[in-house]
Amino acid sequence: MTVTKLAGRTSAQAGNFLKTGPDTSAGAYLRQFWQPVYHTGDLAVGRPVPLRIMGESFTLYRGESGRVCLTDSRCPHRGTQLSSGWVEGDALRCFYHGWKFDADGACTEQPAEDSSFCDRIKLASHPTQEYLGLIFAFLGSGDAPEFPTYPEFENFDGLVEVDSYVRECNYFQNLENALDMSHVAFVHRDNMASFSNIGRGAQLQSEESEWGVTYTFTRADGQLRIQQFGMPNIFYMTALPTDGEVGWQESLFWWVPIDDVTHMQFSLHRVAVAGDAAREVEERHRQRRARIDLPHQRVCDDILRGKIALRDVDTSRIDLVRLQDDIAQVGQGRIADRDAERPGRADNGVIAIRRTWNRELSAMAEGRPLKNWTRSESIVPKAWGFTGASRGDANTIPQTVLLDIRPQVEVDLQLAALRGDPTLE
Ligand code: FES
Ligand SMILES: [Fe+2]
Repeated sequence: MTVTKLAGRTSAQAGNFLKTGPDTSAGAYLRQFWQPVYHTGDLAVGRPVPLRIMGESFTLYRGESGRVCLTDSRCPHRGTQLSSGWVEGDALRCFYHGWKFDADGACTEQPAEDSSFCDRIKLASHPTQEYLGLIFAFLGSGDAPEFPTYPEFENFDGLVEVDSYVRECNYFQNLENALDMSHVAFVHRDNMASFSNIGRGAQLQSEESEWGVTYTFTRADGQLRIQQFGMPNIFYMTALPTDGEVGWQESLFWWVPIDDVTHMQFSLHRVAVAGDAAREVEERHRQRRARIDLPHQRVCDDILRGKIALRDVDTSRIDLVRLQDDIAQVGQGRIADRDAERPGRADNGVIAIRRTWNRELSAMAEGRPLKNWTRSESIVPKAWGFTGASRGDANTIPQTVLLDIRPQVEVDLQLAALRGDPTLE
């Protein structure tokens, strides 16, 4: 079988994983896994917000005990938007007629009813979990699976940067880009860590793992760079060095659809730097973040419309890599046309993800068992010159320092996108 035929076959099935609304098969599949949906620090006590995830609307709020609650967007009485209501303890009271719902969605008060029928009313609510600076939610039906943890990020003797951005295209374009190492030398050609000849087809290998797909690049001298894709939408990689004193970082990404043409990347980065060096790096980054007054998404628009070129952009932008990936991925169209594409051998990572996804979606449609994806300690990224970050003294438990590293314009743009702000459409 030639690569072209293989690629063509997977391309023809490709529509299945693109749409993730509540009545779609990819949506049902993604909803079987915990997903990050918000930053912990963005959700104030007692201030409910509308939240849009996978084409579905919710209300997210933090009760007075600090508990994070995620419910249906609308009141079961007569449907007003619950984010306009009041938080009382950990309960939510509807703005319209004051029905009150506890943190699990049980109706506890119907003020205008002489004979209340609370016991027959339930506001749909979803389990949440705060972890490493992010709020995760389980949006599926039935019991939530065990919450997957990443102990190496919990007890880390260095900085863990918590980050995210909005990309205005279908989430699957970003998944595919992760296992597409041949883009690095072109899209990020000005990066000091970009390499010539990286990612020629014969040097790239994709192999299914117990967690997803292991993607290996073998350099001409035999050195390996190994990255781990985790089903259904996670990536664990060594990231390119951006600061002399830091070197390679380890990064964990999740790509979560807001709708079919917009998604969020949430990420955690382990940065092996401590003490004065950490403070210097962070201060330098803070200053570079503060200089960003135009979101990279809007710069990307100008480039794709031909108004400016990438070479016109200030190369000291801290989000330059992100802008470069915006150009490539949004440039494919909000939803890339996979029927028109011509994949080659260097696209084997892209094909591997599609094949794995399509197999699971077919199994789900036919009622066959799905693969139980798990990550053992051996499923970690590796790279030359990267020895794994220090985990501290064996006798002490290191304290992870979490740092939100988003520029303010990015925060503003993503909060608008997560609210379902129609201006993005
Ligand atoms: S619509 Fe919510 S109480 Fe009436
Ligand atoms: Fe990239």
